[in-house]
Formats: sequence, C-alpha cells, structure tokens
Amino acid sequence: MSAPVTAKRLDGRQVADAIAARVTERVAALEVAPRLVFVRVGEDPASASYVRSKQRLAQRVGLRAETLVMDADTDQAALMTTVRAVVEDDDVDGVLVQLPLPEHLDERPVLEAIDPEKDVDGFHAVNVGRLWSGLPGMVPCTPLGLLEICDHFEVPLLGQRVVIVGRSNLVGKPAAALFLRRHATVTLAHSRTRDLAGLVSEADVVVAAVGRAGIVQGSMVKPGAAVLDVGMSRIDGRIVGDVAPDVWEVAGSMTPMPGGTGPVTVAMVVQNTVTAAERRRNKV
Ligand code: GUN
Repeated sequence: MSAPVTAKRLDGRQVADAIAARVTERVAALEVAPRLVFVRVGEDPASASYVRSKQRLAQRVGLRAETLVMDADTDQAALMTTVRAVVEDDDVDGVLVQLPLPEHLDERPVLEAIDPEKDVDGFHAVNVGRLWSGLPGMVPCTPLGLLEICDHFEVPLLGQRVVIVGRSNLVGKPAAALFLRRHATVTLAHSRTRDLAGLVSEADVVVAAVGRAGIVQGSMVKPGAAVLDVGMSRIDGRIVGDVAPDVWEVAGSMTPMPGGTGPVTVAMVVQNTVTAAERRRNKV
C-alpha cells in the first residue's frame, strides 16, 4: 500500500482561471483587442499541443490570436523573414516563437529579431537584462507563473530558501531572478550539482525544472516544503514531472503534473500580451 498523501495540492488550473478572469477585464477595457501571433516550425506534437492551448486561452479572454505554421525544413533566412514581418506589423502586440526549433535552426537570432516590447516570452536579451536589473520589461511566462502560484496559495518567499533545479534560459535562470526580487535566498542547481540531495533538503521551496523524470525524490525534500514541478516527460504515454510521486508524502504543498505549472504558464502568455498591448497603446 502506498503511504498517505499529505501535501496540499497547488492546483494550477484554479490559478489560471483567476488570472484569465483578471485578464478578460483588462482586454475589455481596451478599445481594440490585443493581437498575438504564434510562430511554430514543424510538426512536433508537444509543441503543437502547447500552442493550441495558448491560442485557445488567448481567444477565450478576448484576444485576437493566430498561429503561423512553417514547414519543418524551413531555413533560417525564411524563418527570420517571417518573424520580422510579423514583428514589424503595427497591428501585432505580441509575438511568440515556440521552442524548441528544429535542430538545423538557430533560435538566438530569431529571438533577438523580436521587438522587446512585443516579446511576450521575455526571451530577448534586452528583457533578460531588464529582469536582472530590476527594470520593467517582459518576463518569461513559466517563472512568472511560479510566483503567481506562490502568491495564490500564500507560499511565503521573503527570506526563504529557494532551490531551483535546472538552469535553462526558459525557466531556471529567470526564475532565480524573480525569486531574488521577492527577497528569497536562491540557489540555482542543476543536473551536475554535487550533493543535489543535500542542497534540496535545505529548501523551503523547491523548483524542479530539468526535464528528467523523478530527479527530485521524496528522500531529498524537507518535510513541509513547497514543491513546484515544471519538468515534463512522457513515459509509456503518461505525462510525468521531475518530481517523484513519493514527494506527496513529504512536502507541505506541491503542484500536480499535469494541472500544475503548465496551465499557469499558458495564462501568463495571455497576461503578458495584454501588458504589452497596454504599454504600446499608452505610449502614444
Ligand atoms: N517551449 C517550452 N516552453 C516554452 C515557452 O515558454 N515559450 C516558448 N516560446 N517555447 C516554449
């Protein structure tokens, strides 16, 4: 028999619904609905499914949203031309190029071609710099969603020890900047960290974002800690996170997978688009 689940479930769908309701009101207050364009290259089923969820929510909150799908063998120049054309369209408020791109394409020049003010992913180097400097800018959606989850469920951050496992540009690095802003003591660990278990066991908040199923185990987690699972792998057709199921028996609170951090990330894409539109329109 498995041990009892003790952790409180940090339900991401509940957080996403609350964000969607707030965003819907902001959209309604604008004269023209913000317009968001997704660019997707190839037919990776996971990417296609993520973009579909983002577009669906965007339309639900009243945005104009569309997806440009390019062939898997699109070359760098063609992708750059398409992205630049979308970015330069004055009617477009937000642009999101879904990652990863097929291997033959270099994502950096593509991300740098996006106007930082329309960069709803917050991946442009200007936005990365703004984030680390404490300046207003566009902030990556998954890390921003982690803060939303903590705020919604009143997970304290000030002065707390946050250990982030995973150092990606998409999640780990920007999450470190955001938790620092909230006055947490942040450690950025990764798959090569020595004594990962010892480090994680000191954390009040654990963020697991490596993309390796079960890298965070129950034996590593401090009883009562909050655990946020970002990693997602498919094993035998089932979606599993970076956090092993036995963590439910130890943690104080934890995001489920699926239904945890994912839906909140999607909600942050639409929130960032509305923020981008409001900023652009208030400028003139
Ligand atoms: N692929 C996985 N997560 C993301 C994300 O947040 N943004 C983009 N553009 N691609 C992703």
